[in-house]
Amino acid sequence: MTIWNLGSINADMVYALPHLPTAGETLAASNLERFLGGKGANMSVAAARAGSRVAHIGGIGPDGRWALDRMTEYGVDTRFIAEVDMPTGHAIIAVDKQGENQIILYPGANHAIEQDQLGQALSQAVPGDLLVMQNETNAQVEAARMGCDLGLTVCYAAAPFQADAVQAVLPYLDFLILNEVEAEQLRESTGQSVAELPVKHVLVTLGSKGARYLPKDGEALEISAHKVKAVDTTGAGDTFTGYVLAGMDRGLPMPQAIAQANRAAALMVTRHGTADVIPDLKEVLEARFG
Ligand code: RIB
Ligand code: NA
Repeated sequence: MTIWNLGSINADMVYALPHLPTAGETLAASNLERFLGGKGANMSVAAARAGSRVAHIGGIGPDGRWALDRMTEYGVDTRFIAEVDMPTGHAIIAVDKQGENQIILYPGANHAIEQDQLGQALSQAVPGDLLVMQNETNAQVEAARMGCDLGLTVCYAAAPFQADAVQAVLPYLDFLILNEVEAEQLRESTGQSVAELPVKHVLVTLGSKGARYLPKDGEALEISAHKVKAVDTTGAGDTFTGYVLAGMDRGLPMPQAIAQANRAAALMVTRHGTADVIPDLKEVLEARFG
């Protein structure tokens, strides 16, 4: 099977700072590094490194060919990524000494996805394939509708969170992943708790505590995370999602997919950077946590 990912591709400019900047403050960074990133690209790379076949649907500008080359190098099918006449998306990421971050996002070419491009890509999909989206591109609703018509398993990682964006795709979803705070925000806007949503699988991430899985037709389940020393949490959530999807794609029972994803995310938290440092399945399975 194939995982189709309609997702963002960003140049992540990661600044190491003594603390996160406050209003009006001028702050010198002790280090600057550029990584491949974007919640979409991070998920594609994670799922590919976990062993899945992944086709990415997205957009870059002429300044983003390096990003495309890296995605190819990491095993992602990049044939459905269009080059448009706009700058590639980028993220300015501040990381403090505790590994906490703050992100400024410039969407650029991530918002230039065409209906035709989407149609062409998904015409290659077969029923049972996974389609995943996040909230850093345009065209999620069109994609979700197409995916639903084609009999794909439609997944949405509600990040960065916007209640109205989730509500727009909700009728088409088989799988929703969001964090605790977002689950509460969604409850406030829909009047339904996540357990009541008409979605087959809901996964609520609990940060350092792990994740809660709420299947429509089964018992809720909580799986705890591994304790690690945080260096840089950026991309850990995306890695988690990519690994869960890859697990589903490879037919793993959900608890096992989540357990692997927790391991992958724990490793990610101990590493500086985003897509370029996502561990492969072998590293994830061999990792020892204290
Ligand atoms: O979730 C982390 C990602 O958010 C970064 O890679 C950055 O590009 C932003 O999209
Ligand atoms: Na990281």
